Amino acid sequence: MARVLVTGGCGFLGSHLVDELVRRGKEVTVLDGGTPPADQRAAGTADVRYVDGDIRDPEAVARLLREGHDTVYHLAAVVGVDRYLDRPLDVIDINVLGTRNVLEAASRTGARVLLASTSEVFGKNPAVPWREDDDRVLGGTAVDRWSYSSSKAIGEHLAFGYARERDLRMSIVRYFNVYGPRQRPAFVVSRSVHRALNGLPPVVYDRGGQTRCFTYVADAVAATVTAASDDRALGECFNVGSGTETTVSEVGALIAELTGIGTTVPLETDEHLGARYQDLLRRVPDTTKIGQVLGWKAETGLREGLERTLDWARANPWWLAQPESGAAPRDGGAAA
Ligand SMILES: NC(=O)c1ccc[n+]([C@@H]2O[C@H](COP(=O)([O-])OP(=O)(O)OC[C@H]3O[C@@H](n4cnc5c(N)ncnc54)[C@H](O)[C@@H]3O)[C@@H](O)[C@H]2O)c1
Repeated sequence: MARVLVTGGCGFLGSHLVDELVRRGKEVTVLDGGTPPADQRAAGTADVRYVDGDIRDPEAVARLLREGHDTVYHLAAVVGVDRYLDRPLDVIDINVLGTRNVLEAASRTGARVLLASTSEVFGKNPAVPWREDDDRVLGGTAVDRWSYSSSKAIGEHLAFGYARERDLRMSIVRYFNVYGPRQRPAFVVSRSVHRALNGLPPVVYDRGGQTRCFTYVADAVAATVTAASDDRALGECFNVGSGTETTVSEVGALIAELTGIGTTVPLETDEHLGARYQDLLRRVPDTTKIGQVLGWKAETGLREGLERTLDWARANPWWLAQPESGAAPRDGGAAA
């Protein structure tokens, strides 16, 4: 049986990936400093071995690789604008040094690596849609918001470097705004779903004209597993995103409609978050490459993905009881 290691397997994407790998009959080890989501634990994680550890510890990573894992799905990272602003040093230590530990250990044992990267590497390049080899356009280094983009891009450079100098077998996926069950209520969709089901209208920043291509988690997981196993993906980087561009106000309004909360509440980020908050106007992937090379495209429409996410959230009060993260109107938006 194929043995796979998933770093960050207790997180949002990682936990769905673990479910899918188990379903496909893999022997899965998870390396993560956290605990699996409550509903996944309740459904039974007996087939999965969880190792409580830190990817910043090179020996802990190397020990697991030496046990004979064929593939490493490397997802562990500091994720979310709230966390880049709160923990700028961890962003570098975990996303850069931790990634180097994973790549180094895999290059020594011959394991294949799937590196989870992000659309954030393109920064604020205004020329959408972005092809994999398009330019990175970033803000200044005093703005913590851009450190995540740079840290993930250095992870990619390291992966390409290990492939060239040490023959590492690796592939990279860049996710675009993945959403779905279990995501921390700190992102556009998850936070809006969380608020609406708690009786609060979704918050829409700066009139909501910004666009995103929201990608349902099952689609992202399917792309991830294919990119980690198909030899045509070796040495390559792929955009993984939906082809449908949606404004933030549209997604807020759709969640308001599906939940019956009926309305959204506006928030000016200049006033509430100040200059350290910098948003992107448009974020759109060109997914020609992954379509042509791996035959993948996103299958789940936004309404369907939101309905599935809402059904799950209604059945998981532990998630609804978590605190949300993000700026809110002073009255919480309840009166809007
Ligand atoms: N969710 C998205 O839309 C999205 C978009 C682009 C890229 N990504 C990438 O996908 C990956 C997974 O993201 P996610 O949304 O599931 O995030 P997440 O925060 O839900 O999961 C990250 C996991 O990594 C673990 N982790 C963090 N630091 C660690 C450390 N030092 N050692 C061991 N484990 C550690 C956390 O405990 C957590 O379980 C990340 O690499 C992220 O950069 C996600």
